[in-house]
Amino acid sequence: MPLPVCYLNGEYQPLQQARVSPLDRAFLFADAVYEVLPVYAGRPFRLRQHLDRLHHSLAAIAIRPPLTHEQWAQVCAGLVQRNGGGDMYLYIQVTRGAEFGRNHAWPDNLAPTMFAYASPLALLPGEILENGVAAITAQDTRWARRDIKSTSLLANVLLKKQAVSTGAFEAILLQQGMLTEGSSTTVHVIQGGEIHTPPNSHDILPGTTRSVVEELAAAIGMPVRSVAVSEAQLRSAQEIWLGFSTRGVLPVTRLDGKPVGSGKPGPQFQRIHAAFLSYIDDLKSTPAL
Ligand SMILES: Cc1ncc(COP(=O)(O)O)c(C=O)c1O
Repeated sequence: MPLPVCYLNGEYQPLQQARVSPLDRAFLFADAVYEVLPVYAGRPFRLRQHLDRLHHSLAAIAIRPPLTHEQWAQVCAGLVQRNGGGDMYLYIQVTRGAEFGRNHAWPDNLAPTMFAYASPLALLPGEILENGVAAITAQDTRWARRDIKSTSLLANVLLKKQAVSTGAFEAILLQQGMLTEGSSTTVHVIQGGEIHTPPNSHDILPGTTRSVVEELAAAIGMPVRSVAVSEAQLRSAQEIWLGFSTRGVLPVTRLDGKPVGSGKPGPQFQRIHAAFLSYIDDLKSTPAL
Protein backbone atom coordinates (compact mmCIF):
# COMPACT_ATOMS: atom_id res chain seq x y z
CA MET A 1 0.00 0.00 0.00
CA PRO A 2 1.48 3.38 -0.97
CA LEU A 3 1.96 6.17 1.57
CA PRO A 4 -0.72 8.89 1.56
CA VAL A 5 0.97 12.02 0.13
CA CYS A 6 2.11 12.38 -3.47
CA TYR A 7 3.61 15.18 -5.55
CA LEU A 8 1.97 16.21 -8.83
CA ASN A 9 3.16 19.16 -10.92
CA GLY A 10 4.42 21.28 -8.06
CA GLU A 11 1.76 20.37 -5.46
CA TYR A 12 1.77 17.88 -2.62
CA GLN A 13 -1.66 16.27 -2.31
CA PRO A 14 -3.41 13.06 -1.19
CA LEU A 15 -2.44 10.27 -3.61
CA GLN A 16 -6.03 9.06 -3.67
CA GLN A 17 -7.18 12.41 -5.08
CA ALA A 18 -4.38 12.96 -7.62
CA ARG A 19 -5.60 13.19 -11.24
CA VAL A 20 -3.97 13.52 -14.66
CA SER A 21 -5.58 13.98 -18.08
CA PRO A 22 -6.46 10.87 -20.14
CA LEU A 23 -4.82 12.79 -23.00
CA ASP A 24 -1.47 12.65 -21.19
CA ARG A 25 0.99 10.98 -23.54
CA ALA A 26 1.99 8.56 -20.77
CA PHE A 27 -1.57 7.17 -20.94
CA LEU A 28 -1.79 7.16 -24.75
CA PHE A 29 1.78 6.19 -25.73
CA ALA A 30 3.73 5.29 -22.53
CA ASP A 31 5.66 8.44 -23.54
CA ALA A 32 7.33 8.82 -20.15
CA VAL A 33 10.34 7.85 -18.06
CA TYR A 34 10.69 7.07 -14.36
CA GLU A 35 12.95 6.31 -11.41
CA VAL A 36 12.60 4.26 -8.25
CA LEU A 37 14.89 4.97 -5.31
CA PRO A 38 15.08 3.83 -1.72
CA VAL A 39 15.11 6.11 1.30
CA TYR A 40 16.82 4.82 4.43
CA ALA A 41 16.23 6.65 7.73
CA GLY A 42 14.74 9.58 5.82
CA ARG A 43 17.75 9.88 3.45
CA PRO A 44 17.35 9.17 -0.29
CA PHE A 45 19.98 6.58 -1.28
CA ARG A 46 22.22 7.20 -4.34
CA LEU A 47 20.04 10.21 -5.20
CA ARG A 48 22.61 11.73 -7.56
CA GLN A 49 22.94 8.49 -9.53
CA HIS A 50 19.16 8.15 -9.82
CA LEU A 51 18.77 11.77 -10.96
CA ASP A 52 21.65 11.39 -13.44
CA ARG A 53 19.91 8.34 -14.88
CA LEU A 54 16.58 10.21 -14.97
CA HIS A 55 18.26 12.96 -16.97
CA HIS A 56 19.86 10.35 -19.26
CA SER A 57 16.41 8.86 -19.90
CA LEU A 58 14.87 12.31 -20.49
CA ALA A 59 17.63 13.32 -22.91
CA ALA A 60 17.26 10.03 -24.79
CA ILE A 61 13.59 10.82 -25.50
CA ALA A 62 14.13 14.56 -26.04
CA ILE A 63 12.37 15.93 -22.95
CA ARG A 64 14.11 18.87 -21.30
CA PRO A 65 14.60 18.18 -17.56
CA PRO A 66 11.73 20.04 -15.85
CA LEU A 67 13.68 20.33 -12.57
CA THR A 68 17.33 20.54 -11.53
CA HIS A 69 18.91 17.92 -9.26
CA GLU A 70 18.56 20.34 -6.34
CA GLN A 71 14.86 20.85 -7.09
CA TRP A 72 14.28 17.09 -7.38
CA ALA A 73 16.09 16.67 -4.06
CA GLN A 74 13.61 19.13 -2.52
CA VAL A 75 10.67 17.23 -3.98
CA CYS A 76 12.05 14.01 -2.49
CA ALA A 77 12.66 15.63 0.89
CA GLY A 78 9.11 17.05 0.85
CA LEU A 79 7.63 13.62 0.12
CA VAL A 80 9.73 11.91 2.78
CA GLN A 81 8.82 14.47 5.41
CA ARG A 82 5.09 14.53 4.56
CA ASN A 83 4.94 10.74 4.66
CA GLY A 84 6.49 10.41 8.10
CA GLY A 85 10.20 9.85 7.30
CA GLY A 86 12.01 6.58 8.02
CA ASP A 87 12.47 3.89 5.35
CA MET A 88 10.45 4.08 2.14
CA TYR A 89 10.93 4.08 -1.59
CA LEU A 90 10.08 6.86 -4.00
CA TYR A 91 8.67 6.54 -7.51
CA ILE A 92 9.28 9.53 -9.80
CA GLN A 93 7.74 9.82 -13.26
CA VAL A 94 8.08 12.49 -15.94
CA THR A 95 5.79 12.33 -18.96
CA ARG A 96 5.90 14.37 -22.13
CA GLY A 97 2.60 15.95 -21.05
CA ALA A 98 -0.82 16.25 -22.61
CA GLU A 99 -1.97 17.92 -25.82
CA PHE A 100 -5.59 18.34 -26.95
CA GLY A 101 -5.41 15.43 -29.35
CA ARG A 102 -3.21 12.44 -30.11
CA ASN A 103 -0.26 12.79 -32.44
CA HIS A 104 2.65 10.35 -32.62
CA ALA A 105 4.96 13.25 -33.49
CA TRP A 106 4.51 15.51 -30.51
CA PRO A 107 4.16 19.29 -30.56
CA ASP A 108 7.22 20.94 -29.05
CA ASN A 109 5.48 23.17 -26.50
CA LEU A 110 4.12 20.56 -24.08
CA ALA A 111 4.53 20.98 -20.34
CA PRO A 112 5.87 17.71 -18.85
CA THR A 113 3.76 16.03 -16.16
CA MET A 114 5.76 15.40 -12.98
CA PHE A 115 4.50 12.81 -10.54
CA ALA A 116 6.09 11.21 -7.49
CA TYR A 117 4.83 9.12 -4.62
CA ALA A 118 6.19 7.00 -1.78
CA SER A 119 5.70 3.42 -0.60
CA PRO A 120 6.83 1.61 2.54
CA LEU A 121 10.15 -0.22 2.29
CA ALA A 122 10.54 -3.47 4.20
CA LEU A 123 13.80 -5.18 5.15
CA LEU A 124 14.68 -8.41 3.35
CA PRO A 125 12.56 -11.08 5.06
CA GLY A 126 14.54 -13.69 7.02
CA GLU A 127 13.03 -16.39 4.81
CA ILE A 128 14.72 -14.91 1.72
CA LEU A 129 18.06 -14.50 3.53
CA GLU A 130 17.77 -18.13 4.56
CA ASN A 131 16.53 -19.68 1.31
CA GLY A 132 16.92 -17.16 -1.53
CA VAL A 133 14.43 -16.89 -4.37
CA ALA A 134 13.64 -18.86 -7.52
CA ALA A 135 14.06 -17.50 -11.05
CA ILE A 136 13.17 -18.77 -14.49
CA THR A 137 14.92 -17.98 -17.77
CA ALA A 138 13.06 -16.46 -20.72
CA GLN A 139 13.87 -14.91 -24.07
CA ASP A 140 14.35 -11.14 -23.84
CA THR A 141 11.41 -9.81 -25.84
CA ARG A 142 11.95 -6.10 -25.03
CA TRP A 143 12.79 -3.19 -27.34
CA ALA A 144 16.27 -2.07 -28.41
CA ARG A 145 16.77 0.86 -25.94
CA ARG A 146 16.62 -0.80 -22.54
CA ASP A 147 19.07 1.76 -21.15
CA ILE A 148 16.14 4.24 -21.11
CA LYS A 149 14.05 3.75 -17.97
CA SER A 150 10.79 4.08 -19.89
CA THR A 151 7.32 3.39 -18.51
CA SER A 152 6.77 1.37 -21.67
CA LEU A 153 7.10 -1.86 -19.67
CA LEU A 154 4.66 -4.26 -21.33
CA ALA A 155 7.29 -6.91 -22.14
CA ASN A 156 8.77 -6.61 -18.60
CA VAL A 157 5.29 -6.94 -17.10
CA LEU A 158 4.48 -10.08 -19.13
CA LEU A 159 7.86 -11.65 -18.32
CA LYS A 160 7.52 -10.94 -14.58
CA LYS A 161 4.01 -12.38 -14.58
CA GLN A 162 5.32 -15.51 -16.32
CA ALA A 163 7.90 -15.90 -13.54
CA VAL A 164 5.46 -15.24 -10.71
CA SER A 165 2.84 -17.59 -12.14
CA THR A 166 5.37 -20.45 -11.86
CA GLY A 167 6.17 -19.53 -8.24
CA ALA A 168 9.43 -17.71 -9.16
CA PHE A 169 10.44 -14.19 -8.23
CA GLU A 170 12.13 -13.11 -11.44
CA ALA A 171 12.56 -13.86 -15.15
CA ILE A 172 16.26 -13.79 -16.10
CA LEU A 173 16.46 -12.79 -19.74
CA LEU A 174 18.54 -14.23 -22.56
CA GLN A 175 19.25 -12.80 -25.97
CA GLN A 176 20.94 -15.00 -28.57
CA GLY A 177 22.30 -17.26 -25.85
CA MET A 178 23.67 -14.39 -23.73
CA LEU A 179 22.45 -12.95 -20.42
CA THR A 180 20.96 -9.47 -20.52
CA GLU A 181 19.26 -8.78 -17.13
CA GLY A 182 16.13 -9.58 -15.13
CA SER A 183 12.68 -8.17 -15.96
CA SER A 184 13.23 -5.57 -13.21
CA THR A 185 16.70 -6.39 -11.84
CA THR A 186 20.38 -6.48 -12.73
CA VAL A 187 21.79 -10.02 -12.73
CA HIS A 188 25.18 -10.73 -11.15
CA VAL A 189 26.78 -14.14 -11.78
CA ILE A 190 29.50 -15.43 -9.44
CA GLN A 191 32.07 -17.63 -11.14
CA GLY A 192 35.47 -18.65 -9.83
CA GLY A 193 34.92 -16.21 -6.95
CA GLU A 194 34.47 -13.27 -9.36
CA ILE A 195 31.32 -11.18 -9.85
CA HIS A 196 30.40 -11.02 -13.55
CA THR A 197 27.76 -8.63 -14.93
CA PRO A 198 27.13 -7.87 -18.61
CA PRO A 199 28.59 -4.49 -19.65
CA ASN A 200 26.25 -1.51 -19.72
CA SER A 201 24.92 -0.91 -23.23
CA HIS A 202 21.59 -0.22 -24.95
CA ASP A 203 20.67 -3.84 -24.06
CA ILE A 204 20.29 -3.29 -20.30
CA LEU A 205 19.44 -0.63 -17.75
CA PRO A 206 22.53 0.80 -16.03
CA GLY A 207 21.57 -0.34 -12.53
CA THR A 208 22.30 1.93 -9.58
CA THR A 209 22.49 -1.09 -7.27
CA ARG A 210 25.03 -2.61 -9.64
CA SER A 211 27.28 0.39 -9.11
CA VAL A 212 26.95 -0.03 -5.32
CA VAL A 213 27.87 -3.72 -5.67
CA GLU A 214 30.92 -2.77 -7.78
CA GLU A 215 32.13 -0.25 -5.18
CA LEU A 216 31.50 -2.52 -2.19
CA ALA A 217 33.08 -5.54 -3.90
CA ALA A 218 36.21 -3.50 -4.63
CA ALA A 219 36.29 -2.35 -0.99
CA ILE A 220 36.04 -5.88 0.44
CA GLY A 221 38.41 -7.44 -2.09
CA MET A 222 35.96 -9.34 -4.29
CA PRO A 223 36.98 -9.23 -7.96
CA VAL A 224 34.25 -7.74 -10.15
CA ARG A 225 34.14 -7.66 -13.94
CA SER A 226 31.83 -6.18 -16.59
CA VAL A 227 31.82 -9.07 -19.01
CA ALA A 228 29.44 -10.91 -21.35
CA VAL A 229 27.84 -13.95 -19.67
CA SER A 230 26.66 -16.92 -21.72
CA GLU A 231 23.62 -19.05 -20.92
CA ALA A 232 25.98 -21.95 -20.07
CA GLN A 233 27.91 -19.71 -17.62
CA LEU A 234 24.64 -18.56 -16.06
CA ARG A 235 23.51 -22.16 -15.60
CA SER A 236 26.83 -23.25 -14.06
CA ALA A 237 27.20 -20.21 -11.75
CA GLN A 238 28.33 -20.73 -8.13
CA GLU A 239 25.93 -17.97 -7.11
CA ILE A 240 23.45 -15.66 -8.86
CA TRP A 241 22.33 -12.35 -7.36
CA LEU A 242 19.62 -9.91 -8.40
CA GLY A 243 20.37 -6.23 -7.76
CA PHE A 244 17.61 -3.61 -7.60
CA SER A 245 16.86 -0.49 -5.65
CA THR A 246 13.97 -1.62 -3.50
CA ARG A 247 15.76 -4.73 -2.19
CA GLY A 248 19.50 -4.25 -2.65
CA VAL A 249 20.98 -7.66 -3.48
CA LEU A 250 18.91 -10.85 -3.48
CA PRO A 251 20.28 -14.40 -3.86
CA VAL A 252 18.78 -16.66 -6.56
CA THR A 253 18.98 -20.24 -5.32
CA ARG A 254 16.90 -22.03 -7.98
CA LEU A 255 17.03 -21.46 -11.72
CA ASP A 256 14.43 -23.18 -13.89
CA GLY A 257 13.77 -25.57 -10.99
CA LYS A 258 17.46 -26.57 -10.52
CA PRO A 259 19.61 -25.53 -7.55
CA VAL A 260 22.12 -22.73 -8.08
CA GLY A 261 25.40 -23.80 -6.39
CA SER A 262 24.52 -25.38 -3.05
CA GLY A 263 20.88 -24.31 -3.42
CA LYS A 264 21.32 -21.88 -0.49
CA PRO A 265 22.49 -18.23 -0.46
CA GLY A 266 26.27 -18.52 -0.92
CA PRO A 267 29.23 -17.19 1.07
CA GLN A 268 29.89 -14.35 -1.38
CA PHE A 269 26.29 -13.22 -1.05
CA GLN A 270 26.64 -13.15 2.74
CA ARG A 271 29.69 -10.88 2.39
CA ILE A 272 28.14 -8.41 -0.06
CA HIS A 273 24.88 -8.32 1.88
CA ALA A 274 26.71 -7.46 5.11
CA ALA A 275 28.77 -4.80 3.29
CA PHE A 276 25.56 -3.34 1.85
CA LEU A 277 23.89 -3.05 5.27
CA SER A 278 26.89 -1.38 6.86
CA TYR A 279 27.22 1.02 3.88
CA ILE A 280 23.59 2.13 4.33
CA ASP A 281 24.27 2.61 8.02
CA ASP A 282 27.43 4.66 7.35
CA LEU A 283 25.54 7.04 5.05
CA LYS A 284 22.72 7.84 7.47
CA SER A 285 23.75 11.31 8.59
CA THR A 286 25.44 12.44 5.34
CA PRO A 287 23.85 14.82 2.76
CA ALA A 288 21.70 13.01 0.17
CA LEU A 289 23.04 14.93 -2.84
C1 LIG B 1 14.99 -3.70 -16.24
C2 LIG B 1 15.72 -3.33 -14.99
N1 LIG B 1 17.01 -3.63 -14.87
C3 LIG B 1 17.71 -3.33 -13.75
C4 LIG B 1 17.10 -2.70 -12.68
C5 LIG B 1 17.91 -2.37 -11.45
O1 LIG B 1 18.17 -1.00 -11.39
P1 LIG B 1 18.41 -0.27 -9.98
O2 LIG B 1 19.48 -1.07 -9.31
O3 LIG B 1 18.86 1.08 -10.35
O4 LIG B 1 17.13 -0.33 -9.25
C6 LIG B 1 15.75 -2.34 -12.78
C7 LIG B 1 15.11 -1.64 -11.65
O5 LIG B 1 13.95 -1.45 -11.59
C8 LIG B 1 15.04 -2.67 -13.95
O6 LIG B 1 13.74 -2.34 -14.08
